[in-house]
Amino acid sequence: SNERLWGGRFTGKTDPLMNLYNDCLSYDKTFYSQDIQGSQAYAKALFKAGLITEYERDQMVEGLAKVGEEWRTGTFAINPISDEDVHTANERRLGELIGINISGKLHTGRSRNDQVATDLRMWVRDTLVSTEQYLLTLIRIIVSRAAQEIDVILPGYTQSQQAQPIRWSHWLLSYCQLFLSDLHKLRQTRSRVNRCPLGSGALAGNPFEIDREFLAKELGFEAVIPNSMVGVGDRDFVVEVLQWATVLMSHISRWAEDMILYSTAEFHFLTLADAYSTGSSLMPQKKNSDSLELLRGKSGRVFGQMAGFMYTLKGLPSSYNKDLQEDKEPLFDCCSTINNSIQIASGVISTLTIHPENMKAALSASMFVDEIRNYLVRRGLSQDEANNISRECYELAASEGLANVSELGLEKMKGIYEQFGEDVMETFDYERIIEQYTSLGGTAKSSVLQQIEEVTRAVHD
Ligand code: ARG
Repeated sequence: SNERLWGGRFTGKTDPLMNLYNDCLSYDKTFYSQDIQGSQAYAKALFKAGLITEYERDQMVEGLAKVGEEWRTGTFAINPISDEDVHTANERRLGELIGINISGKLHTGRSRNDQVATDLRMWVRDTLVSTEQYLLTLIRIIVSRAAQEIDVILPGYTQSQQAQPIRWSHWLLSYCQLFLSDLHKLRQTRSRVNRCPLGSGALAGNPFEIDREFLAKELGFEAVIPNSMVGVGDRDFVVEVLQWATVLMSHISRWAEDMILYSTAEFHFLTLADAYSTGSSLMPQKKNSDSLELLRGKSGRVFGQMAGFMYTLKGLPSSYNKDLQEDKEPLFDCCSTINNSIQIASGVISTLTIHPENMKAALSASMFVDEIRNYLVRRGLSQDEANNISRECYELAASEGLANVSELGLEKMKGIYEQFGEDVMETFDYERIIEQYTSLGGTAKSSVLQQIEEVTRAVHD
């Protein structure tokens, strides 16, 4: 027999699995509306260039609006054989509505290569508007909490060890500042995304004197991409959004990690609202911080999407390659993940309860040894001399079995360094310690208030 082992795969028709493999309508329908807008603008540009009549233009623009309406109302009937992606699907449907004689002219000088780049850039640009709003809300919530709870103090940690006392607001604002820098970067990214590739054709440009400035303006782009090969082949804007999202999620994740720790029974600095935690089916004493753990966990997912797409991009030859179709799923998923995460983070922080008495009780007097040094430096000793004296005090206290230096008493301290005054005992006070950090960016009330003022100004509408 002349049947070949692989015969089934070479029938002349496309392998059905290949059809599925190639299909992207299941997810690129996400930007059906941008595809419609892009085509409407292109129809107008064709008329402007004298390539179609006014009547044809109007037919196209109105027909496309109907196609968009079908998507919106969920009545768009997909043809699983011919509808490979949203571009082919929309054009097929337009032909059924206004006749193929007219609809067939819409693609004049255009390629799916410049079309998809245009749609995707528009979709990203539009989606980031919500992202920006969610981020603004998050920052506003944190900063208003920081203002309300400015007198709450807790231990500050380095390497998970108690280091210095700080204001709770200072901790809140430390994340607020990171989110603020995410916000600024987002605005810059959005503007780089918002450049128009339409009119780039397959790769060489447009041979029919299509007015690209007109297209860009019609579609709300800030500028035209000045090289057609870049227009169709560049996906740096996708990478940039994914990278931006990775950094944002790393901020959210670290923040969540702090709060997971603070909500344990051992710390008990805060309690999550029921709306953002769950009980255990087995152990009634447990209240799990699911929201925070998901915020932490989903950051890994976004990181993977970023890394995955960068691998796809690396090593591609210039201009369009079908590999680029792989940009959409990670990007769409990433955008919905970050939009949800920012909103969940806002919900968590606006509803959690703090326990200031536990925060205060957790402050350990071991931190006072630092204050002896600062006291001596303020009286003119070098940092080294001051360090030696405070270390001696620490060691004496330890050798006498005292919990900390503040219990030594003035007489014993004078035994180490004669010029200790009465006032050294007053330094053993957490609020006073905190109030020393008045320099810009410090944890003293005046500095924290200044931060609150600046952040508030940056996010006011
Ligand atoms: N679905 C394709 C994509 O997402 C559209 C561009 C296809 N271009 C082509 N020449 N086959 O990238």
